[in-house]
Amino acid sequence: MDSLPSHIQSKLQEMFAQFDLKEQYANLSNLYKTNKANPRLTEQMGIAYARGRMPATFSVIKNVLQKFYEKGLHFDSVLDIGAGPGTLKLALSEEVQYSAIEQSESMLKIFQTLHGNKNNVAKTSLQKFIKQQNYDAVFASYVINEIENKESCIKKIFELSSKYIFIIEPGTPVGFQNILLAKKIAPKYNAKVIMPCSVTENCPINSGDWCHFSVRLPRIFEHQLIKSGKLSYEDEKFCFVIFAKDSADEFVNSTVVKKPIKKKGHVIFDVCKQGKIERIVVPTKKLEKEISWGDTLEIKQ
Ligand SMILES: C[S@@+](CC[C@H](N)C(=O)[O-])C[C@H]1O[C@@H](n2cnc3c(N)ncnc32)[C@H](O)[C@@H]1O
Repeated sequence: MDSLPSHIQSKLQEMFAQFDLKEQYANLSNLYKTNKANPRLTEQMGIAYARGRMPATFSVIKNVLQKFYEKGLHFDSVLDIGAGPGTLKLALSEEVQYSAIEQSESMLKIFQTLHGNKNNVAKTSLQKFIKQQNYDAVFASYVINEIENKESCIKKIFELSSKYIFIIEPGTPVGFQNILLAKKIAPKYNAKVIMPCSVTENCPINSGDWCHFSVRLPRIFEHQLIKSGKLSYEDEKFCFVIFAKDSADEFVNSTVVKKPIKKKGHVIFDVCKQGKIERIVVPTKKLEKEISWGDTLEIKQ
């Protein structure tokens, strides 16, 4: 389970001490529930985001990056769109050249409190941003849903990236619709899906259901307080997609798209196998390691 670095947790605790977090977190949740574009966050709501949501978005980003690195892939430079409190920056190694854009003054202040002033963060919207350099990868983590002109903004994201495009959204039907929209646009930029599946067009999960995954993270005390939760952990549901431009490679051919059902002597997997959803029953002895929701299904021959 991934947690935020301890120096960031201490800074957040200091920032928190100044107001009623529970109330601010409730305001933030109500704002997000409306799914409205351009939600206006106050600085207090931004701090509540950093404390209440960032631990989860950090764990999701770590999980997505791990899947990417496990395939032997990497990028040297990245543009983080809608950086918020700088969640992606915390999940990356220092070697990656990090740049970001963020349109909200409140979020920018929180970013600077957490990371210092010497970061390459521009205060601008994606719509107004003018590219300064090449970026191997462009990240849009929990931001598409907040954007008004989704189609033109997703096109701009594809234009800004030289190679990889990462899109992460909440694990909801609305979040998945944003992923499908990006898949529809990708072929215009000669980009194809490399994770979590290899299906750019004709996704088999396109009505009623939604393709999403889950990551478990520890709940810390203040987090339990503001979210009124009792468990020592929480499961964060998310949707994601990684595209590569001008790539002939395939990295995944069967992805576990639901929580596996463990039975005595066998496990039932629902997999997306090159554009088809299949239910596969595998004897436990044919599994070399534990296969979880979101993993590639590998069976011993
Ligand atoms: C939900 S937060 C996500 C923060 C961070 N990426 C994460 O994963 O934790 C969305 C952020 O995107 C910013 N944002 C929304 N629309 C934007 C736009 N059009 N251009 C730049 N930033 C934007 C918001 O101000 C907010 O800080």
